[in-house]
Amino acid sequence: MNPFKYGKIVSGDYFYNRKDELKRIKATLSGGNNIVLYAPRRYGKSSLVNKALDELQKEGFTTVYLDFMSIYSREVFIKNYSNGIAQKEQHSIEKTIKFISKFIRGIVPSITFNEFGKPEFSFSWIEGYNKDETLEDIINLPEKLADKNKKWIIAFDEFQEITKLNGESFEKILRSIIQHHKNVSYLFFGSRTHLLIDMFSNKNRAFYNSALLMNLKVIDEVDSILYLTQKFSKDSISLSEVVALYLINRVNSIPYYIQFVAAEIWQEVINKKRIINKEHVNMAINNIIELKSDYYWELTSRQTNYRKKVLHALSSSDKGVYSKEITQKFNLGANSTTQKAVASFIEDGIIEQFNNKLEFSDPIFKEFLRKNL
Ligand SMILES: Nc1ncnc2c1ncn2[C@@H]1O[C@H](COP(=O)(O)OP(=O)(O)OP(=O)(O)O)[C@@H](O)[C@H]1O
Ligand SMILES: [Mg+2]
Repeated sequence: MNPFKYGKIVSGDYFYNRKDELKRIKATLSGGNNIVLYAPRRYGKSSLVNKALDELQKEGFTTVYLDFMSIYSREVFIKNYSNGIAQKEQHSIEKTIKFISKFIRGIVPSITFNEFGKPEFSFSWIEGYNKDETLEDIINLPEKLADKNKKWIIAFDEFQEITKLNGESFEKILRSIIQHHKNVSYLFFGSRTHLLIDMFSNKNRAFYNSALLMNLKVIDEVDSILYLTQKFSKDSISLSEVVALYLINRVNSIPYYIQFVAAEIWQEVINKKRIINKEHVNMAINNIIELKSDYYWELTSRQTNYRKKVLHALSSSDKGVYSKEITQKFNLGANSTTQKAVASFIEDGIIEQFNNKLEFSDPIFKEFLRKNL
C-alpha cells in the first residue's frame, strides 16, 4: 500500500505535525471562544479540524461539522445542519425527533431508512410557514441541546461561502443569534483567505471581532523531511535529506503536493532500485502535470489573452510582474491593467498573495504554465 495519501482528509498515521496548532484550536474552543482558521487551499485545514473535533469529542464535547461548499440555499442549510445535529445528538433518533419537533417551527421531522436500513433523520416543510423562523430555530438548536456540562462545538468549513447564500443578510442572522450562545463554541474555517479575513476584521461586517483569527502555515520543513525519509525507509527506500528538501521546495511546502509527489515517487521506485534522486522528483512532477493537463488546459483557455500573458509572466519570473524589466520582457501593458488581471486570479483562487508576494496556489499549475505558455 502506498504510504502517502493525497486528496481529502488524512488522519491516523497519515497525519503528522500540527501539534501547536491543534493545542491552540482545542484550548480556544474548549474555553468557550470562537476561532477562525484560514489558509490557502490544500494546506491541511480540514484534516487538522477533523483531528481537533475527534479529540474534543473524546473529551466529552459534542461536535458537529458542516461544509458550506455544498450549501446553495437557506433550505439546504436547514436540511444539512439539522441532519448534522441529529446525527450527533446522543439520544435515540426517536428522542431527537421529539426534540426537533419541540424546538423547530415550520417542519415536520420524521425517520427514513437509508439503503443500508439505517434510520436517518429527515423532514418535510409545513406549507405557508415562514422559513425565517425555521432558520432561526435551527441555528439555536445546538444551544438548546447543550448545557454547561455538555458543551457543543460547531465547525463551519469553507465558511466564506455563506455570503453567496443571501448577500450579507444570512451572515447577519447567524451572527445575531449565535452571539447569545453560552454553551456552544464555533470554529469557522476556509481557503478563501482574503474573504475570511474581511468577514472577521472589517468593522462593517457582522462577524467583526467575534473570533480569534488563526493563520495556518505550511508544515515546518524539518518535520516534513523527517516524515518523508522515515516513511520511505519503512519500505527500504532511501531518501536523503537533500532530495527531500528539493521535493518540498519544488511544491512550496504545500502539504497536499508533498504527499502527491511522494506517492508518485513511491509507485515508481517500489519495484526498482530503491534510492531516490532529484530526477525522481522531476519525473513525479511531470507525471502529475500529465495527469492534470486536461484540467490545466481548460483553466488556461478560460483566460483572456492578456491574462494569459500575465500568467506567463507570473510563472516565469520570481520578481513580480510590475517592474519595467518584466513588463518589457513579457510585453505587458499598464500596471493598472495587470493589477486587474492579478485581482481576478486572486478572486478565482489561482494566485495567493503573501506579504505582497504573489504565489501560485497550485505549484504544479505553475510548472505546467512554464512548460506550455
Ligand atoms: N497534517 C498533515 N499530515 C499529512 N498530510 C497532510 C496534513 N495536512 C494536509 N495533508 C495533505 O494535504 C491533503 C489535503 O488536506 P486537507 O483536505 O485537510 O486540506 P484543506 O486545507 O482542507 O484543503 P482544501 O483547501 O482543498 O479544502 C491531504 O490529503 C494530505 O495529503
Ligand atoms: Mg478543506
